[in-house]
Amino acid sequence: MEVLTSKRFEFSAAHRYWNPEWSAERNIEVFGKCTNSHGHGHNYVLEVTVAGAVDPVTGMVINVSELKRIVGRVLEGFDHKHLNEDTPYFRDCQPTTENIVQVLWSLIAPELPAGVRLHRLRLYETADIFADFYGGATANFGRNYQFSAAHRLDSPQLSPAENTELYGKCNNLKGHGHDYRFEVTVEGPVERETGMVINLVELDAAVRPLLDELDHTHLDLQHAFFVERPSTAEHVVAYLWQRLAAALGLRLRWIKLWETPNNIFEYGVHEP
Ligand code: NI
Repeated sequence: MEVLTSKRFEFSAAHRYWNPEWSAERNIEVFGKCTNSHGHGHNYVLEVTVAGAVDPVTGMVINVSELKRIVGRVLEGFDHKHLNEDTPYFRDCQPTTENIVQVLWSLIAPELPAGVRLHRLRLYETADIFADFYGGATANFGRNYQFSAAHRLDSPQLSPAENTELYGKCNNLKGHGHDYRFEVTVEGPVERETGMVINLVELDAAVRPLLDELDHTHLDLQHAFFVERPSTAEHVVAYLWQRLAAALGLRLRWIKLWETPNNIFEYGVHEP
């Protein structure tokens, strides 16, 4: 029996994006404020997920305190450092989330004990922006977005009595609402020149029209998609997918939707 075990770590570091092969104008156009010559910094959060068989004697995949020791030793080289200046890893590439997570993989994976393999690293640069790496030729980049909308669950295929019975309070005639939050994950090779799978500005531009369309509206009364079908979170995630796949193409990998902090729905090509 194989089990995935995850542990979360934190470190704080400074960094700066600058491609010396480019003009200053080009650097500022692509990297924006991240080009500040004095650097800026983040509270990074690293989620380490390992896979392995459960040891019949200890009942563990890996002793979490051993994982803490291994990753902690690696992160000593990053915590309270300037990633460009104080580490040797970003001389020829940008210290982007995508590149940092790959460097961390190369440092952590070989240190794991026999029978335990690194399954995934997820690195949060901020609470909303992250990169995933699985050790392959591509990485994932993702961001969280939110919109607020009213809706009412009511199926055109059911009678009023059946709708009330099925959806209960969510069938309230005048509707109710949520702060919907969703996480968009995009997959691709990490570009050598930028250190990115996708520029955050490009991802935001792809998502923006959807947010403008949905935010502060009534889903059922203002959007054709939900006139024909109940605005369940399953259908909301399907709609987000349809719209974002049109904007992002095959790079779109996964969407995770929180209808409330407690109700979570996911859809995608394959799990990130
Ligand atoms: Ni930054």
